[in-house]
Amino acid sequence: MTKRVSVLFVCLGNICRSPTAEGVFRKLVEQARLQDQIHIDSCGTSNWHIGKGPDSRSQQAAQKRGVDISSLQARQFSEKDLDTFDYVIVMDRQNLADVKDIWHQNGGTEPTLFLEYGRSDVAEVPDPYFGGEGGFEQVLDLIEEAGEGLLRKIQERLA
Ligand code: 4NP
Repeated sequence: MTKRVSVLFVCLGNICRSPTAEGVFRKLVEQARLQDQIHIDSCGTSNWHIGKGPDSRSQQAAQKRGVDISSLQARQFSEKDLDTFDYVIVMDRQNLADVKDIWHQNGGTEPTLFLEYGRSDVAEVPDPYFGGEGGFEQVLDLIEEAGEGLLRKIQERLA
């Protein structure tokens, strides 16, 4: 069966926030038994970590919440993604600016900030790469909450 909706999560490196979002959202989608209908992927605006797995701190933090992201491999965002994905969801305003630059030239799906789907007052998923352990937990909290909102939105669309 062809999937009906596709979702792409985008951050800078594709080794911390967007693979975490991919794993957490995949789990939410499986719990809702919608895995045959929703395609999920992630990528980074930079080419810094292409082919690498998620940061070990992200893997560990996700594992503690029952989410296994160990098999993911970083790839770089491409303008083609704006033509193929229904949702292009970025983590922070810098990601938004970078993807919007390409969107203005290419057209296609307009990128949106992930936390617009959540209820928190926080607007961006902060980059945890140079910070301490707590940053990875905060990333997961924000992603879980916004992921539930995003799933509700897609469920309305599929209904
Ligand atoms: P991400 O985090 O964008 O959430 O994957 C980062 C990963 C690596 C770097 C920056 C942010 N870096 O500077 O290499």
